[in-house]
Amino acid sequence: MPVRSLGYVRIGTEDIDAWRQFGGGFLGMMEDKGDNPTSLYYRMDDHPSRLVISVAAENKVEAIGLQVFGKEELAELVAAVEQTGTKVTPLDAAECRDRRVTEAVRFDDPAGNPLELFWGVALSHTEVQTPTVSSFVTGEQGMGHVVVTAPDGPAAYAFYTEVLGFRPRNTLRLPGPPAADGTPQFETLWFLGCNARHHTVGILPMPGPGRLVHFMVEGGMLDDVGRAWDRAEKLKVPVMQTLGRHTNDKMVSFYVISPGGFAVEFGYDGLRVTGDEPVYEITEGAFWGHKFINFPTL
Ligand SMILES: [Fe+2]
Repeated sequence: MPVRSLGYVRIGTEDIDAWRQFGGGFLGMMEDKGDNPTSLYYRMDDHPSRLVISVAAENKVEAIGLQVFGKEELAELVAAVEQTGTKVTPLDAAECRDRRVTEAVRFDDPAGNPLELFWGVALSHTEVQTPTVSSFVTGEQGMGHVVVTAPDGPAAYAFYTEVLGFRPRNTLRLPGPPAADGTPQFETLWFLGCNARHHTVGILPMPGPGRLVHFMVEGGMLDDVGRAWDRAEKLKVPVMQTLGRHTNDKMVSFYVISPGGFAVEFGYDGLRVTGDEPVYEITEGAFWGHKFINFPTL
C-alpha cells in the first residue's frame, strides 16, 4: 500500500523566536505543548504536531513525515525501501512519543531528504483553535505538500513512485544548464500525488544535497489567503511570489520566505483528483500572478 498523506514537517532552526511569530502569527496555526520544552508544536487539526520547530545549529528540515495506513503497511514499505539498499532506522520510544505516533522509521530519499514513515497518530480531542484561519484543509489529504530538491531527478522520481507508491500527476520542464555545444537542455520538475490532493510531493532537479524548497498549507476559504496576505504585510514576512493561480493544482496562493530560508505557500481552492487522469505537462506554472519579488536565501 502506498503512502497515504503528508503527516507532519519538522524543522530545525537557529532562530526559534522568528518561527514562533511565523507559525502562530503568520500561518495562524495553534501552538500546543509537546515533550521538548524548547520546541514549538503546532496543530492545524486533530493531529497534535503537524509542524514542529526545534532549536538546531543550522536551519534545516529535520523530517518530512509521511503517514501510512498501519503496522503491516509500514512493514511492507520498510522492506521495499531496504530493497533499494537504503538504511532504515526505527524511531525509539521517546521519538515516537514526541511525534504522538505508535511506530515510525526514518531514512533518506536518494537525494538525502530526511523522510519518516509513521502510523497510529494519537489524536487531540480538544477543538483546534485557529482564530485567524477559518480551517486548514487536511483530513485524508494530509497536512499539505512539500517540494524537495534532488540532484538526480529520475532517481528520486523512481524512488517515490516505485518504492513509496506515489502516482505521477504532471511535469513542468525547466531550463537546465546548456549542453557543451550550447544546445538548450531541460530538466523535469515532477508533481506526485498519493491521495485526492493534486500533489503531496514535488521533485525539483537541482544540484547539491536534497533540501526543502517549500511546504504548502491550504485554508478552507479564499478569505484565509487574503487575511494571510494582510498578516504577511503586518508582520513584515517577506513575500517571495505574489498571489496567483497554479495551472496544475489550480490553487490560488502566494509564497513567503520562512525564517528557515525556504518558502511556504499559503493557498486555497486546490484541485481534488478523484479519477486516474493521465500524466500531463504544464507549460506555465500559473494562469496569472505568482511573480517573484524576493528570492529564498538557501
Ligand atoms: Fe506548492
